[in-house]
Amino acid sequence: MNIVKVKDYDEMSKKAAAFIIEKIHRNPNLNLGLATGGTPVGLYNYLVKDHQKNGTSYKHVTSFNLDEYIGLSSENPNSYRYFMDKHLFNQIDIPKSHTHVPLGDTDDPKQQCQEYENLLTEHGGVDLQILGIGSNGHIGFNEPGTSFQSTTHIIELTPSTREANARFFDDPNEVPTHAITMGIASIMRSKEILLLISGKSKKEALTQLLQGELSENFPASVLQAHPSVTVIADDEALGKS
Ligand code: F6R
Repeated sequence: MNIVKVKDYDEMSKKAAAFIIEKIHRNPNLNLGLATGGTPVGLYNYLVKDHQKNGTSYKHVTSFNLDEYIGLSSENPNSYRYFMDKHLFNQIDIPKSHTHVPLGDTDDPKQQCQEYENLLTEHGGVDLQILGIGSNGHIGFNEPGTSFQSTTHIIELTPSTREANARFFDDPNEVPTHAITMGIASIMRSKEILLLISGKSKKEALTQLLQGELSENFPASVLQAHPSVTVIADDEALGKS
């Protein structure tokens, strides 16, 4: 694991944007894996600014998001499809047909999981996957205990994850109980991974990632076994401030 230490959230976001932009310049047909949540918002702002200023094009990029809440439609402001349209896709030149987020309001979530996994395979997998991390070590929505062999599947969110994500909802009771997420095996198939970690609340998770043992009880630990992972972590997450 290559660890890049930065001062704060802004520097993490800027470095992450530069990392991705460089990959797109090298490979305009990049298959880019994306995450939602608070962590990548600054990164997406920098990608948008760069697109406007320097014209980096996403016309030939294909994107795959990690996860989506079950029961929320794309028009629901708390859905991850809505989040991605708002923070990134509507502000760059990526064709909407190239952007993939699991469908949360489908009648058959199980079938949707299979279709999403097939889609990943048909496209030859993700070249670069962006990840955040939950304070319990989840990646995507793969909660502790998820099998390292898992492909895209339905997951019941833990109370701590629902609580952490309640900040985005008007009423905490509206946080869905289930989500569709790429599995650990799906994530591990990415050729390269960029993990972003910022803030005091992620300090223990970062320590465990770097020093803990490989265990399904701490899903992110699987990244220790991936050949190409870069972690960008800020001082607060590193326990330096
Ligand atoms: C979101 C995702 C999650 C988040 C994690 C951290 O697509 O896959 O694993 O990355 O819950 O969330 P934030 O960034 O809000 O702390």
